[in-house]
Amino acid sequence: MTNNNLNKLKNQQLIVKAGESIARVKDDVAKDPLRLNYHFMAPAYWINDPNGLIYFNGEYHMFYQHNPFAPEWGPMHWGHAKSKDLVHWKYLPIALAPSEDYELDERGGCFSGSAVDDNGTLAIVYTGTVVRDGKLIQSQCLATSTNGITFEKYEGNPIIPGPPEEGSSDFRDPKVWKHEDKWYAVLGSCKNGKGKALLYCSDDLRKWDYIGVLAESDGSMGTMWECPDFFPLGHKYVLIFSPMGMGEKKTVYLVGDMNYKTGKFTYDTLGEVDCGFEYYAPQSFLDGKGRRIIIAWLNAWDWMPWWKNFGPTAANNWCGAMSIPRIVELCDDGRLNFRPVKELEVLRGDHFRLENTEIISGVRVLPEKLEGKCLEILAEFELKSCEAQEFGFSLMRSVDGSEETVVSYNVKGRELRFDRNRSGSGSKGVRTCKLESADDKTLKLHIFVDTFCVEIFIDEGHTSMSNNIYPQPESKSMDLFSSGGRVKMLSLDIWKLKSIW
Ligand code: FRU
Repeated sequence: MTNNNLNKLKNQQLIVKAGESIARVKDDVAKDPLRLNYHFMAPAYWINDPNGLIYFNGEYHMFYQHNPFAPEWGPMHWGHAKSKDLVHWKYLPIALAPSEDYELDERGGCFSGSAVDDNGTLAIVYTGTVVRDGKLIQSQCLATSTNGITFEKYEGNPIIPGPPEEGSSDFRDPKVWKHEDKWYAVLGSCKNGKGKALLYCSDDLRKWDYIGVLAESDGSMGTMWECPDFFPLGHKYVLIFSPMGMGEKKTVYLVGDMNYKTGKFTYDTLGEVDCGFEYYAPQSFLDGKGRRIIIAWLNAWDWMPWWKNFGPTAANNWCGAMSIPRIVELCDDGRLNFRPVKELEVLRGDHFRLENTEIISGVRVLPEKLEGKCLEILAEFELKSCEAQEFGFSLMRSVDGSEETVVSYNVKGRELRFDRNRSGSGSKGVRTCKLESADDKTLKLHIFVDTFCVEIFIDEGHTSMSNNIYPQPESKSMDLFSSGGRVKMLSLDIWKLKSIW
């Protein structure tokens, strides 16, 4: 048997082994009351970044960083699922297992990357990672599929063996796109404590030329840029990345202009894709309707200290989920909007509505029996006549009120506030975010709650915030509140959302 055939066999055997590992626990995992109802999760064990998002042959494909052997980060495989509507997902066999010498090590594997449609072939470009003699080696690799399910690693891998002079051994997460008749790839790297996006170019996805530094930190934007994503939007270009070492900022965007002649991206606007505790490594893709859609891992690394608590689900053999898909739009002020895709409306079930209601301190607004853990909430408040200093929702509340999660708006500070100090087990803390472009007339809050994830959209989608909370199972009541005066709620819609599983 040739070496290549041996490697193919090894890859298949590892995929079977990974599938068996999942099959052993997935039925028990499915019974866990903490399982999410309408967010994508792996059938079992660990998941992190979304990878290779693509609309291919009329279907949405999602791959994901996956350890199929334990509910913690480990040897990275590419899990795989597809969807016809971006809401309901069907699991497919694992697409990539770490089988080649440039991927093999207990801390290595097939790291993040992207997918493109190469004339009917689904091509994945990803990072193969190995630690050899204590040294981290990250190189870029190719795998292809004609049926969109089984993948073959390219014999000539790695296609980009190592970093250029301007990069370092942190050299990963290729995002590939086509411009005119050439393929381009942006990669995350760093040098001397500054995060960078490096640009490569190719005619055939196999032979790549280094172009140069597409963009880099000015010293204030993180020490390493993970998962860079670069795409045209309207008349501008957008660079999104998840910086290491940028404090609370987990995922940022730059809007600017691309010069393909010089290979340089110059930006004029910087913003946060999501200002919550848990939203990391998003990837975007263009769908059949021409929409730019983005999905992220609903968690984040805390680089200092190195490891963090990823919540209690690991005790039940699973960990991690993806955000709901969001549409990315360019606004007139040069900033970006992120809004949940309309497709999610199919999940709407029982509906409750209130109109023109005064929220007065100490007076209950919602019926006590209105409770739930899988909800969509859409509320509009009048700011013109608002006397309150702060108002908002108390969610996932225990009967005695000792446990609650507070989502509020600070009127004077024009700030969205998420307080999970009394949310139950799991990490605590408060996140705040200034609503730069909120108008003075009304405020719309759009909240998605799913068991332990809360995704919030506000300020017409200019601001979004994703956080995880782990309340007791009985804490599922909710109400509105205001402090320092009253506020008028113009309308409130609450839907119970159906499960996609
Ligand atoms: C981001 C990341 C990527 C890497 C992958 C490994 O979360 O650290 O940079 O490719 O996860 O799983």
